[in-house]
Amino acid sequence: KMNFLNNILLFTFLLNAHYCSGIYWLGITVNGSSVGWNQTHHCKLLEGLAPDQLQLCRRNLELMHSIVQAAKLTKLTCQKTFTDMRWNCSSIEKAPRFTPDLSKGTRESAFVFALAAAVLSHSIARSCASGDLPSCSCAPTPAEKPGPDFRWGGCGDNIAYGLNMGSAFSDAPVKNSRSGSQAFRLMHLHNNAVGRQCLSDAVETKCKCHGVSGSCSIKTCWKGLQDIGHVATDLKSRYLTATKVTHRHVGTTRQLVPRELDVRPVRDTELVYLVSSPDYCTANEKFGSLGTQDRHCNKTTSGSDSCSLMCCGRGYNRYMEKVVERCQCKYHWCCYVTCKKCERTVERYVCK
Ligand SMILES: *[C@@H]1O[C@H](CO)[C@@H](O)[C@H](O)[C@H]1NC(C)=O
Ligand SMILES: *[C@@H]1O[C@H](CO)[C@@H](O)[C@H](O)[C@H]1NC(C)=O
Ligand SMILES: *[C@@H]1O[C@H](CO)[C@@H](O)[C@H](O)[C@H]1NC(C)=O
Ligand SMILES: *[C@@H]1O[C@H](CO)[C@@H](O)[C@H](O)[C@H]1NC(C)=O
Repeated sequence: KMNFLNNILLFTFLLNAHYCSGIYWLGITVNGSSVGWNQTHHCKLLEGLAPDQLQLCRRNLELMHSIVQAAKLTKLTCQKTFTDMRWNCSSIEKAPRFTPDLSKGTRESAFVFALAAAVLSHSIARSCASGDLPSCSCAPTPAEKPGPDFRWGGCGDNIAYGLNMGSAFSDAPVKNSRSGSQAFRLMHLHNNAVGRQCLSDAVETKCKCHGVSGSCSIKTCWKGLQDIGHVATDLKSRYLTATKVTHRHVGTTRQLVPRELDVRPVRDTELVYLVSSPDYCTANEKFGSLGTQDRHCNKTTSGSDSCSLMCCGRGYNRYMEKVVERCQCKYHWCCYVTCKKCERTVERYVCK
């Protein structure tokens, strides 16, 4: 009987390990932040890298700084983007040991996969432009004609290189594994691609003026990526409208299709998930829900952080907090500013 239980536990563990292996690399911050990434044995610092990721690491050691940076930025950005939601992405800090909210093919994991893929390519593209990588540099001059009032110049983020190396790294654990469910692999690859698509959409033309005393008679422009916060906001709205899917045979291959009676293929722009999420109102370890007790809420908004939505109708407690601010600032000739410190009492609300 014990043996049977053990087997079930092991089986569950392996399933979970497979389902989230695609974002396993986010755990690289645990051991990887403090090394120089100048020796190939550093690649072993993160247990459970896929074979292709290991090979990529050994051949492109200098890339690993960008990957560590990307893992940090993914965690930070996810939590910032979801600070006003019941599920607030705090569990991402557990990487690479994910809880069910991120390991079971939920809407939340769809967001994190897409965000991680986008941030990774973003970091690499930026590192190329700032000269941190020997294998790449500024993007080639854009093929399109420059406008009438500027010429191409400066140093553009190398988006093509970022997308290329980024997808090689983030898709490797899912692409080349034969184990696990095909539906999960298709879902992860799809969401990674949606993340990179959002990144490609976040390209803008940035310019710099030259000429006598900033007259801007000469302008040079380049293609640069918008901040990752912009991409995260875009992905969050796709998270809110994500589609629950299932997979079915189409000829000899399998394909993701919406679960509802909605006969159409999955769109390239939508995030997809396989498993419905709990409402995250109450704590439940089985679903990876932390509940919203003691979370701050906002009494004057009607958004997702409003007290009624955040607290799921349980009500809230009020408390007073003193905040210290700089005030009555004066400018002194020349050149400094002095301020007083003012104390103010504000009302705060936390969910029951
Ligand atoms: C690797 O980098 C660390 C710090 O960045 C340095 O102390 C060490 O000497 C380097 N090792 C090699 C083999 O280059
Ligand atoms: C960090 O390194 C230790 C020691 O090598 C290892 O036991 C542990 O699994 C590593 N942690 C991660 C997240 O890879
Ligand atoms: C996120 O939610 C958890 C669980 O409710 C809470 O413990 C944590 O403080 C929250 N984090 C932030 C930044 O609000
Ligand atoms: C609450 O929401 C209102 C309206 O969105 C906003 O102006 C205010 O700063 C928020 N208060 C807190 C404490 O976040």
